[in-house]
Amino acid sequence: MTDEPTKTLKLMVTGGAGYVGSVCAARLIEAGHDVTVVDDLSTGHADAVHPDATFVEGDAAEVAGRLLGDGFDGVLHFAAKSLVGESMTDPAKYWEGNVLTSLRLLEAMRDHGTKRLVFSSTAATYGEPESSPIPETAPTQPTNTYGATKLAIDHAITSFSRAHGIAAVSLRYFNVAGAYGSFGERHTTETHLIPLVLQVATGDRERIQIFGDDYPTSDGTAIRDYIHVVDLADAHLLALRHAADGEHRIYNLGSGTGFSVLEVIEACRRTTGHEIPAAVAPRRAGDPSVLVASSERAGDELGWKPERTDLDGIVADAWTFTQSRQNV
Ligand code: UFG
Repeated sequence: MTDEPTKTLKLMVTGGAGYVGSVCAARLIEAGHDVTVVDDLSTGHADAVHPDATFVEGDAAEVAGRLLGDGFDGVLHFAAKSLVGESMTDPAKYWEGNVLTSLRLLEAMRDHGTKRLVFSSTAATYGEPESSPIPETAPTQPTNTYGATKLAIDHAITSFSRAHGIAAVSLRYFNVAGAYGSFGERHTTETHLIPLVLQVATGDRERIQIFGDDYPTSDGTAIRDYIHVVDLADAHLLALRHAADGEHRIYNLGSGTGFSVLEVIEACRRTTGHEIPAAVAPRRAGDPSVLVASSERAGDELGWKPERTDLDGIVADAWTFTQSRQNV
């Protein structure tokens, strides 16, 4: 498959009305691929579906079962429940919505002979890391149900790719941020740091809470690896190209640089010109102190190199997007 980099592929993008899925669909379409977005709009937005995509509203597994026979070359599977806190209070929603749906999707791929899969996995599969930066060989000990369901799917993909010759790649995202033009992060229930800080800048939120200032880090706040959503999306295109029949490859996607919560808030102040009041609050349960990726494997095997690593630039793209949504 590595010898056909420019071939137009017919691709199904589940969750293509969501944040990462919509940016990825846009980049795939710009690269000349034929994209069908499948989304049940439970958390996605109809107007985030790229205008040049075919859109099918519905459950990913059900639609895959019905449509994959129409000559699809591959699936990019983004559709998922992804709120860590909710996964702890309503685990059934996550085992069903993530694991069962993905299993049914894999069965549909097997039944229709669909041979390529790129799956959205997560840094949450590693849990509290034993060392930093985190390579793919690190132990997978998820501390929340969300991460456990994504890890379970990774295991299922390994079995299916071996048994049915599927060329599969799992991409383990660290902290996705930024935006791509009109495609960005707009969750109804927002839990992520950068969009929440920007809501303070727009005046939609009074202050940002800093969850813990007693971590063993230089300024006491937790450190994360923020990766621009466009760099992340481009890794999916490379994964499609380099996927190998019958193999399941796993890659971490991060910039390799960590920023503290205070550094992110400062970047948001600089970028927006707003004061952004902040208050220290207790640690959020289950938050590791430092999560930074080693993405060496993605560099070596996919030729992936994140290009938008400047934190102010990432925040600026998110801010432009946030402002564009203000009067919608
Ligand atoms: N934070 C705050 N205040 C807030 C929100 C977040 O201080 O109002 C802090 C968090 O405690 C954390 C950091 O900002 O230290 C980043 O938090 P996010 O919620 O933005 O992201 P997480 O690191 O918790 O989550 C990310 C992905 C998840 C994934 C997880 C893996 O978004 O999907 O990494 O641990 F599961």
